[in-house]
Amino acid sequence: MERPFVFINSAMSADGKISTKERKQVRISGQIDFNRMDKLRAGSDAVMVGIGTVLADDPSLTVKSAELKEERISSGRDENPARIIVDSKARTPLDADIFKKGKGKRIIIVSESAPADKVDLLKEQAIIVVAGEENVDLKKAMSELKNQGIERLMIEGGATLNWGMISNGLVDEFYTFVGNLIIGGKTAPTFTDGEGFTEKDIQKLELIDAEKMEEGVLLKWKVLANSEK
Ligand SMILES: NC(=O)c1ccc[n+]([C@@H]2O[C@H](COP(=O)([O-])OP(=O)(O)OC[C@H]3O[C@@H](n4cnc5c(N)ncnc54)[C@H](OP(=O)(O)O)[C@@H]3O)[C@@H](O)[C@H]2O)c1
Repeated sequence: MERPFVFINSAMSADGKISTKERKQVRISGQIDFNRMDKLRAGSDAVMVGIGTVLADDPSLTVKSAELKEERISSGRDENPARIIVDSKARTPLDADIFKKGKGKRIIIVSESAPADKVDLLKEQAIIVVAGEENVDLKKAMSELKNQGIERLMIEGGATLNWGMISNGLVDEFYTFVGNLIIGGKTAPTFTDGEGFTEKDIQKLELIDAEKMEEGVLLKWKVLANSEK
């Protein structure tokens, strides 16, 4: 199957949590990491999140640096990469910041089970891709994004989407910034939630880089394909 090059960027506490038990966003990294993330966004054709992240944090997912926006425009691209939400039931609020802030394409990936009236309303603000019956079929979605010209896709969480992408073998690399705090809580989201692997299926990784950054460490991982495990 043809799909884009896919990488995840995430920030976690020293105990692997990506937000608190109230599922509220916390500041885990500092300005240097923030600028690095902005560069990764600006270098991508699209940035994707799950509906859980939209409902919890309402991110705009825009490129923040004026210089990076200018670079994109002068190379004939939109100011922002396409912003994508994985949203089986078309629950994306019509006043989400993704719609209100910044220019560029928005894509909502829904399933066939999404209510038609909600899909019709979202159609006014975004391109709608239908993939899967009950939940979004992420493999189909990736192939459709490739058909739409997306070659480099950045995933910005959350925990359930990260699991869906990794467990379906759809991720090539990921960055995790590990910050100097402990969040705790057995229900607080971790980097990958979902069902979890059994011992025989555990996903193996190759460490590409580790760099001390501000008060934490930035790790870059390659996800090994079955044949490389
Ligand atoms: N620190 C960080 O780097 C970072 C980054 C992002 C988010 N976060 C945190 O992560 C939390 C949100 O994570 P979350 O796990 O609740 O939500 P999420 O991963 O953003 O979204 C998950 C939702 O996506 C939809 N989905 C549809 N098809 C799917 C599929 N095949 N596989 C997986 N998901 C699919 C499902 O909702 P439907 O069934 O309705 O489609 C699912 O509940 C928030 O607390 C946020 O603050 C942290």
